[in-house]
Amino acid sequence: MKSRRKFLKAAGVSAAVAGSAPFLPVGAIATETSGKVDDFVRKLMATLPKQPANGSWGATEDNILGPFYRKGAMFRAKVTPPMEPGRLLVVNGRVWGDDTRKPLSMAILDVWQADDNGVYDNQNPKKQPGLTEMTNRARMVADEAGRYEFESIHPGRYMINDTTWRPEHIHFMVSHPGYQTLVTQLYFEGDPHNAGDDFIKQSLIMKVNQATTHGTTYDTVTFDIVLAKK
Ligand SMILES: [Fe+2]
Repeated sequence: MKSRRKFLKAAGVSAAVAGSAPFLPVGAIATETSGKVDDFVRKLMATLPKQPANGSWGATEDNILGPFYRKGAMFRAKVTPPMEPGRLLVVNGRVWGDDTRKPLSMAILDVWQADDNGVYDNQNPKKQPGLTEMTNRARMVADEAGRYEFESIHPGRYMINDTTWRPEHIHFMVSHPGYQTLVTQLYFEGDPHNAGDDFIKQSLIMKVNQATTHGTTYDTVTFDIVLAKK
């Protein structure tokens, strides 16, 4: 049997390095696991609803893309810049497949919206943002349970002609391999301009709830999305 020194020399390890080399002692045992990843996902799923929040397995309705979409928003879960003025809003939900009736892990959500004054960051033709300047836009990835969540503000309403307002809305583009990419919009229950909007669909109007954290009250909306199989 080789001595430790001979073994290290044969392996090309110098004496200086060998002194601190990270060799495990004889009899070392593998670190114990605290559970397998699959166990975690299984337990997580067991604690969550088994169907979309509205109870429907029909694919979420689409809605117009609009003229203000931009590719390449960064991945982040805060859509608005720090301290952006406006009424604080947290949107969460899950992405599902209409065929498997299971969450779509790793679905990509691309969201964009107007600021508190109803203005998009690329709305001024004389002052277009640079490629890295993405205000009130973000992409995110759904987790193992198809969940997503982002912090933002209520988007401002804006006029599309001299007399017609668009109600508050957030644009969504949701994609997942094997499913039809969905372009749609989230609307808010109680907006007085919902009634006069030419583009709105009733199934896309979500209930607004309130939550309080550290003494600050903000609005929350749950928007579950069902994608149609290709
Ligand atoms: Fe819009």
